[in-house]
Amino acid sequence: MPARPGRTPDDHHPALVRRAEEALTQRVVDSFDGCADDRLRTVLTSLVRHLHAFVRDVRLGEEEWGAAIDFLTRCGHITDDERQELILLSDVLGVSMQTITVNDTAEPGATEATVFGPFFVDGAPEVPHGGDISFGASGEPCWVEGTVTDTAGRPVPGARLEVWEADEDGFYDVQYGDGRTAARAHLFTDAEGRYAFWGVTPTPYPIPADGPVGELLAATGRTPMRASHLHFMVTAEGLRRLVTHIFVRGDDHLASDSVFGVKESLVTDFATQPAGSPTPDGREVDGTWTRARFDIVLAPTHREDRP
Ligand code: BEZ
Ligand code: FE
Repeated sequence: MPARPGRTPDDHHPALVRRAEEALTQRVVDSFDGCADDRLRTVLTSLVRHLHAFVRDVRLGEEEWGAAIDFLTRCGHITDDERQELILLSDVLGVSMQTITVNDTAEPGATEATVFGPFFVDGAPEVPHGGDISFGASGEPCWVEGTVTDTAGRPVPGARLEVWEADEDGFYDVQYGDGRTAARAHLFTDAEGRYAFWGVTPTPYPIPADGPVGELLAATGRTPMRASHLHFMVTAEGLRRLVTHIFVRGDDHLASDSVFGVKESLVTDFATQPAGSPTPDGREVDGTWTRARFDIVLAPTHREDRP
């Protein structure tokens, strides 16, 4: 009778197992040798090494890998033109923020970046200096003002600011599904690089948690809540585009922001003003209002600084 194929007891020796695992990783890495694109080869080689190291580190079970594939498949299926579950997954795993951190290389004095989020809408209306971006969104009125300068301290006139935020119930206009535009606008800095607008005082709200990413958060005992914030995207000729938020100092969710977006430099005082106190532009406000100052410094255009 021919010898029975299959493993011998020796095949299970830890040193042999390790050698087989390493050999497999190397074979996959070597398979990219013919790749003409150096950057693609570098990225794929590193990806394979890290993925294989992860599988070996946790001794990943086949049913666990199957569950992971099923999870990713469900993320794909729930994704459409309005919802991007894979970006949300990247957000809650801190990969979006790590990518920003790697690319937002410390430009001394420049304002720090944070996550973009899924609720930006191109083509929001323009408001003038001191205009109101709330367009009827519910919330405590909030006066936001500041300047845009470059890292040499020179004012940047004509910088375009896109600003957007949730209402006091924690919803962006697009989440109502009725076509409204509220709590978003764009405006431009004046000749001295100054901007100002009325919005609503930001409040905390949950990221969309009714899909696979929400299940992951629930299974791991994590909160879907984002710390209260107001989004900015600032563009100006010859300067690096800045995507960021300001966060509300004292907010309970600063330390547990579900997408790891909080940076200390972006935590801002939203100072409560008593009912009846005069407003910067003479506007009549019922009840309390807040005011925040955010001076923005744009870095020079991004250099190609990969090694
Ligand atoms: C947001 O701030 O709007 C957001 C950011 C990341 C994931 C979900 C929401
Ligand atoms: Fe947001």
